[in-house]
Formats: sequence, C-alpha cells, structure tokens
Amino acid sequence: MEFQDVVRRRRMVRRYDPDRPVPPEVVDRILHNAVRAPSAGFSQGWGFLVLDTPEDIDRFRTACRHEEWPDDYLAATVRAPLLIVVHSNKDVYLDRYAQADKGFTDRDDSWWPAPYWDIDAGMAALLILQTAVDAGLGACFFGLPKERIPVYRKAFGVPDAFHPIGAVSIGYPDDPLDDDRRARFRARRKPATDVIHRGRWST
Ligand SMILES: Cc1cc2nc3c(=O)[nH]c(=O)nc-3n(C[C@H](O)[C@H](O)[C@H](O)COP(=O)(O)O)c2cc1C
Repeated sequence: MEFQDVVRRRRMVRRYDPDRPVPPEVVDRILHNAVRAPSAGFSQGWGFLVLDTPEDIDRFRTACRHEEWPDDYLAATVRAPLLIVVHSNKDVYLDRYAQADKGFTDRDDSWWPAPYWDIDAGMAALLILQTAVDAGLGACFFGLPKERIPVYRKAFGVPDAFHPIGAVSIGYPDDPLDDDRRARFRARRKPATDVIHRGRWST
C-alpha cells in the first residue's frame, strides 16, 4: 500500500472478525517495525507484551476491569485476536543519559523537556497502527485504567520499571464506516489552520 494511503486510511477500528486470526508473519512484521521507531539517545526503553490467545486476552480484560469505569471502557471490553501492550521504561533513559556522551550523571529527571520514554513508546505504537493498516488489518490504541495497572502487572508478570502507556488491539476489521459516521468524523477534524502555524503563531 502507498504510504499516503496508509496515513489516509488509518482510523481506530474497535471491532474485528472473530474467526480470522492475524497471520504469524504479519505479527512478526508489526513487531519488527515497532522496534524500528526512533528513540532519544537510541535508548529503546520500551517493551511489548504480545497477547494472541483468547485466554490471555480474557485475562487482560479481567485485569483492566474497573468497577467505577463505564462498561464500554475499551480495556475491559476489547475483543481482538491480537493485543500488543506497549510499555515505556524511564530508568533506561536516565541510565542512557548518564553515560559519558550525554553526561547527566545525577540521573535527574527535572531537565527533560518532555517525557521521552513515553514519546518513544508512542512512536512505536504509531508504527504498529500503520503496519496493521498496511497489512489490511484494523487496529485501535487505547489506555489502561490507571488504578488497574498494578493488577495488570501482576497478571502478566510485568516488572515495575515498565509502565504500560497503552495497548493496541489488532484484527481484521468488522467495523464498517457508514456515510454518516464518515461525515461525523470529517466534521470533527480540526481545520489545519487552527493547529498549524507558519512563520509565527497565529490566533
Ligand atoms: C493516547 C491515546 C489514547 C486513546 N485512548 C483511547 C481509549 O482508551 N479508548 C478508545 O476507544 N480510543 C482511544 N483512543 C483513540 C482516539 O479516540 C482516536 O484516535 C480519535 O478519536 C481519532 O480517531 P481516529 O484515530 O480513528 O482518526 C486513543 C488515542 C490515543 C492517541
């Protein structure tokens, strides 16, 4: 698929054909591309948990279920043949930037202009989404309820140093976009002139 078509076609797809698993070679390509994401200082402080059995995905839903969240909170209801939970690891960045070529030996985190650990994991997540689209699949990035993260960690043996920034559900789409929904999406997209400023910030 042309890159421009991948960008144009990508949208969050939340329902999948239950009878079509994601072929293993596509899973491999998705993961191969994820780890090609850029990372600050080439730190690569990320980690990906791949869940591809109904039992594991069931366990994920149960771990993320939060009594006080609405029932339609995606982490607690997601049904997909494949789930990739994307994690960031801040310690890896603090260690990397304490090395001689960077020199922040005190491992202070107050000078960081933005949380690069989460940014890099987000870049990897976008590559996962785009690779899924390129392979004819649908995918959705969603967050885990913060209060359930310890339960999720315990259920899957995720070390404390790894923070789940979100998960990507992937499968063959069963979530048609009718003209109505397409028109609503189009209407909600902010005009480029509202968000892009050329030469000087304009109001
Ligand atoms: C950081 C982030 C968190 C998101 N969390 C959720 C979520 O918890 N549940 C959900 O259904 N969609 C979630 N989304 C998807 C957004 O709702 C979606 O990207 C947005 O509505 C634009 O639609 P589109 O991606 O289909 O163009 C999230 C997206 C991002 C980037």
